[in-house]
Amino acid sequence: MCGIVGYIGPKSLDSFLIVGLKKLEYRGYDSAGIAIIDKNELVVRKSTGKIVDLEKLIENDKFDGHVGIGHTRWATHGAPTKINAHPHTNQAQTIAVVHNGIIENYTNLKKDLINEGYIFISDTDTEIIAHLIEKYLKTEKNFENAFYQTILLLEGKFAIAAVSEFEPEKIFFVKDGAPLIIARNTTVKESFLASDLPALVPIAKESCYLENKQWGYMNNTDFKLYNWNHEPVKLQFILIDLKIEQFEKGKYEHFMLKEIHEQPSMIRRILANRIKDGIISFNEFKVGDEKLKKIGRILIQASGTSLIAGKLGKMYLENNSRIYTEADFSSEFRYRNPLVEGDTMVVGISQSGETADTIAGIHEAKSKFLRVISFVNNVNSSMARESDGIIDLLAGPEIGVASTKAYTAQLVNLFLFSLYLGRLNGNLSETELERNLKELMTIPEKIEKILNNIDPIIKIAEFLKDQKDTIFLGRTFNYPTSLEGSLKLKEISYIHASAYAAGEFKHGPIALVSENLPVILTVPNSEIRPKILSNLMEVKARLGKIITIVTEGDQEIIDLSDYHITIPDIEESLSPLLAIIPLQLLAYYTALFKGCNVDKPRNLAKSVTVE
Ligand code: M6R
Repeated sequence: MCGIVGYIGPKSLDSFLIVGLKKLEYRGYDSAGIAIIDKNELVVRKSTGKIVDLEKLIENDKFDGHVGIGHTRWATHGAPTKINAHPHTNQAQTIAVVHNGIIENYTNLKKDLINEGYIFISDTDTEIIAHLIEKYLKTEKNFENAFYQTILLLEGKFAIAAVSEFEPEKIFFVKDGAPLIIARNTTVKESFLASDLPALVPIAKESCYLENKQWGYMNNTDFKLYNWNHEPVKLQFILIDLKIEQFEKGKYEHFMLKEIHEQPSMIRRILANRIKDGIISFNEFKVGDEKLKKIGRILIQASGTSLIAGKLGKMYLENNSRIYTEADFSSEFRYRNPLVEGDTMVVGISQSGETADTIAGIHEAKSKFLRVISFVNNVNSSMARESDGIIDLLAGPEIGVASTKAYTAQLVNLFLFSLYLGRLNGNLSETELERNLKELMTIPEKIEKILNNIDPIIKIAEFLKDQKDTIFLGRTFNYPTSLEGSLKLKEISYIHASAYAAGEFKHGPIALVSENLPVILTVPNSEIRPKILSNLMEVKARLGKIITIVTEGDQEIIDLSDYHITIPDIEESLSPLLAIIPLQLLAYYTALFKGCNVDKPRNLAKSVTVE
């Protein structure tokens, strides 16, 4: 949600900022802009739309500067217009700021500034920051103090970078609640900042993740970091060990397709990492077994796809470890004053580890003195640092806005964790563990089989692309599959898709069914199959178009379907790991055939860092 970059060094500034912003575009793509100190003068360029539009705007500019900041926006306050695009400046255009997050008290601050004669041109909360710095420059002895006085006034969640003609060799920055990384390459005297690592790979060599309420400034060789009392903080840089290929599409047309295809190798990697000689271990997890044995209840809180994984996680945990588990939207959990007891463990699940709603849920749990663990893909994220223990999803970087491989990584890790807890508290026998692990090991090959048979998926996508409404149905373990399948379809193809537990459908929503309404049912081989068959017949009787995700060889269901996609046979609890693959591909190809921007769907951002 909004991407920030900053650079000081010998390279062509506009090209670094543009390249960095392009790598962060998944965080927002409503508008973009840069601010450069060019021969001691501030130059700002901004445009609506994507980074390529900004790139076109500046193609004839000849900048001569080596200090600059950039921003790609996901609009919160104010429409995605050029005026509202970042960077924002003071009236004299001597100070420029970029900002990710929300300044919650901006209305009052803006009112005061207007009363004092400051003139605003945008509808954003960000613009107040430039005016406040200018105001404090009149009373404080230097820019550093003026920046500090300004940030002390701000309430909300933010990461901010600022450049100015008053300190032409420096970039000032602050982090409180939104991610910010500073980085360097000492061999060529370069300093960087960014809201996320992709912008820094492969140019920066070392990075330092800022903690909340840290701020400071950098020039090309040096960094100063302070706490909220303006006391120096020791900087700790770590080597960046990511490869550029992890952030590129390679032979695929879109990141989403690449990430869908990465799932077999990713699951093999997770299993190799977690299972040694039939024993499950989570090396990075620092909560001891004695503490885990005392858990009486688990409360999962997450958002979007991560919550859907959490809903399956609930079933895995209850089935395998018999620990009572709930799964709730973070945004609801945080504000509903949940009933908890001392032995309740709160589990956060997140790809980014920066989702504001989920972080707020962690704060809520901590305020109730509960143990908090997080399943995260970014082990340096805010969630990871604020949890008592973390489980690394090991999915590798996920760039496509629509989450795919992070979801299956969440399922595999949650399943393994449920088996681990089950063995620990004695609710799962050694034989059951062995059987489950054996079945899990077959998943990568079975996913490969699905990925190699996309013709039926393409045929259905061609039909779906002209539809306005769709319904997804599934039962028990595959109710979450229907939720996730429908989320994927609406996110990237903008086709309305509702998901229901198939058995519940007849209690009202079935009224929606009419001739040709596509109803997509997941029907794995399971005990509940006869019941799903009845649900299918109920739809068929009302002339709905039946599309099924069905086990190979299940001729009865295949014959009843207008369209079908087969998946290999698998134990029911693990069938969601197979059934979701064709649904991801179905959403992908439907969006593609509709001409939608698959990796950058409208109105969305990869990481939602506002509540
Ligand atoms: O980074 P997180 O897993 O916390 O993100 C949560 C949701 O914002 C995310 O899953 C969102 O729903 C995706 N766009 C789903 O494809």
